[in-house]
Amino acid sequence: MNASSASFSIEQIDAPLGVVVRDLDLTQPLDPLNLSALRSTWLQHQLLVMPNQAMSITDLERFAHGMGPYGEDPYFEAMPGHPHVAQVRREADETTRIFAEAWHSDWSFMASPPAATVLLGSIIPPHGGNTLFSNQYAAWDALPDDVKSRLRDAKGIHSARRGYARDGAYGEKDREAGRSMAIRFDDSALKTQLQPIARVHPETGRTALYVSPGYTLGIEGWSENESQEMMMFLFAHQTRSEFVYSHRWSPDTLLMWDNRCLIHAATGGYEGHRRLLHRITIAERQPA
Ligand code: SIN
Repeated sequence: MNASSASFSIEQIDAPLGVVVRDLDLTQPLDPLNLSALRSTWLQHQLLVMPNQAMSITDLERFAHGMGPYGEDPYFEAMPGHPHVAQVRREADETTRIFAEAWHSDWSFMASPPAATVLLGSIIPPHGGNTLFSNQYAAWDALPDDVKSRLRDAKGIHSARRGYARDGAYGEKDREAGRSMAIRFDDSALKTQLQPIARVHPETGRTALYVSPGYTLGIEGWSENESQEMMMFLFAHQTRSEFVYSHRWSPDTLLMWDNRCLIHAATGGYEGHRRLLHRITIAERQPA
């Protein structure tokens, strides 16, 4: 960053999204200049990677709240005393399926999904457990023109049912299988919410592809066959390797990503090791 503006430095990642931010101490309150420059950097690069931030939960809350209003987190039980913080947790001997392994944009089934998510690595296994991100501006831009024109005014049907309904991935059977993470399934997961498939980002004005296998069930008003065929095509297209960054975690790294133009997915590969991260969602500054 320019010395006359903010005081941190940024380093490009060799990937289609993301930037590493250094020379910023998030255990201290950020001055308004740094906060505003950091937010602009995030809008430009979609993902901030901030290593070596030995933050407390209170520091994490202060940072997240500096970036925007707290989001709402259905289906997670918050950390005691920290109503906006969820623990993404997996014990060493746990055999439940990996949480959030399906590509998704956080809570896209809500009427006003969170603009951002921050995730702090606390206990990180020696191998595996990367988080994948895919750039959905690039995915939209790369669609053939005829597909873009079919999708430009189309609406995706989003729902939490595959994950959080009683019979969903984190439903009754999962609870019985002993998941350590505090997930609370609920019948409200059966509801649906329409979202634009070609989503114009409210802050950058760029168009992003806004569907995901985690939460998008189909396309409003299309026949079942047409809708499923298009969904299968889009799900394969949107995670092509040229759009994807795979983040290898270290303890005390904080990520902040933009849910309006990225999808993400967790990965496994750390059997026998514990993994713990702390997560806060950030709402739109002015709900869409
Ligand atoms: C998430 O989707 O919030 C969790 C990602 C991860 O565990 O890597």
